[in-house]
Amino acid sequence: MKANIYKLLIVLLCCFTSSNLFAQKFEELAQTPPMGWNSWNTFQTNINEQMLRDMVDAYVSSGMRDAGYIYFVLDDGWMAMERDNNGRLVADPKKFPSGMKAFADYVHSRGLKFGIYNCAGTKTCGGYPGTHGYEYQDARLYASWGVDYLKYDWCNTDSINARDAYLTMSRAISAAGRPMVFSLCEWGNHGPWLWAKNVGQLWRTTTDIHAGFAKDQNNGSWSSFGVLHILDLQDHIRQYAGPGHWNDPDMLEVGNGMTYAEDKAHFSLWCMLAAPLISGNDLRKMSPQTISVLTNKDIIAIDQDSLGVECFKYYSFDGLEIFVKPLKDNSLAICFLNRSSREQNIDFNWKAHMIVDSISKLNIDFNKNTYALRDLWSKKNVGTTNKVFKQIIASHDVVMLKLNKVN
Ligand code: GLA
Repeated sequence: MKANIYKLLIVLLCCFTSSNLFAQKFEELAQTPPMGWNSWNTFQTNINEQMLRDMVDAYVSSGMRDAGYIYFVLDDGWMAMERDNNGRLVADPKKFPSGMKAFADYVHSRGLKFGIYNCAGTKTCGGYPGTHGYEYQDARLYASWGVDYLKYDWCNTDSINARDAYLTMSRAISAAGRPMVFSLCEWGNHGPWLWAKNVGQLWRTTTDIHAGFAKDQNNGSWSSFGVLHILDLQDHIRQYAGPGHWNDPDMLEVGNGMTYAEDKAHFSLWCMLAAPLISGNDLRKMSPQTISVLTNKDIIAIDQDSLGVECFKYYSFDGLEIFVKPLKDNSLAICFLNRSSREQNIDFNWKAHMIVDSISKLNIDFNKNTYALRDLWSKKNVGTTNKVFKQIIASHDVVMLKLNKVN
C-alpha cells in the first residue's frame, strides 16, 4: 500500500515538474503571420508617449487596423537606463510620463494589441537593461501591463546559448500566464528555424533590413541588408514555416523612401513569403500611395492565406524571377519580379510549364487545368492560362497574379 502511494507521488511529481520544464508557447497565437507596426525602422530609440499616442490614432484613422494590422510594438528605447531597487524594469519617466500600463491601456482602448521589446543579453542593442537573469520577473511585469507581443533581441549575449535563452523566456511567458506572441530576434545566427517551432511564433532569419531595394547599407562594423538580399536568403528555409511558426525576414520598409514600384515589390514579396507584416513607417505621414500598398487587401490575403505555405522561386533568368505560392482551395499566387535596372517583357506560356513543389505537394499542369488570372495591383481580370501572358514590367517592379481554377 505504502509502496503504491510512493509510486503515485513520484508520478504526480514527474507530471508537475515536466509540465513546468516543458511548458511551451501559447499554441493558438499567430495561426497566420502576425501583422502590426513597430517603432524601430523610423524612430529607433527616439520615441515618446505623445508621439506614440498620435501614432496609435493614425493606425486607426488611416485604415491600417481595418486592413488587419493589430499589434502596436514598442522597440528598443522605452526603458529607463537602470532597473529599480526591486530589479523591476521601469519605463523611461521622461518618455512615458503616464507609465507603461497607461500607454498599454490606450493601445487596447483603440482596439489594438500591445507589444514590447527586450533582449536576451545583459543589455539591449541600445544599451538599456537586458533581460538575462530576470526572465520570469520581466515576463510577469509585461503580463501585468497587458503586453500581447514580445520581441526578444540578441545583443550583449556573450557566451549565452541561444536555444536555452529563448526557451527560458518562452517558459517565463507561459508561467506569467498571459498569451503573448514571442518574436525571436537572433538574426538567424543559430538557425532558429531548426529549433524554435515550439519556442515562439516567429523568428528573424537575417540581420536588419534597411530602406533600400538592391543594395546593402554599410553601418561601419556591420551592414544592414536591402530587400533583394534578404529575399535571396529565404528560399532554403521555407519548409520550416507554417501556421503558428513563421520565418521573419524583418519588418517592412514600405513608405520609408524606396520608389513606389520598390515598395509594391517589397510588400508583394513579403506576402509571398508568408512573412509577418510589421510596418515600420510613420503612420501619421503616409502618402496615399503608401496607404494603398500597405492596405491592399488582396495582397494581404495572399500573406494571410490559411494554408501557411511560403512561396518558392520557380524561375530566374536575366533578372526576371517568378515566385509561386500555393494557397488554400487549390488556388495560387504568382509574382513576377523584375530585379534588373531595365524594363523587361513578360511572355509566359503557361502550357509550356509544369509547376511542381515537393514541400506543398503542388503539381500543376496547365494543359490539364485552366486558371483564371486576376492582377492584384491593377485589380483587373487578365484572362486565363489558356493564353500566353504578356506584359511589360518596369525595373524593380512586380506583377502579382492570383490564379483560380476554372475547371
Ligand atoms: C536589433 C534588431 C532590430 C532592433 C534593434 C534595436 O538590431 O535586429 O530590429 O530591434 O536591435 O536596438
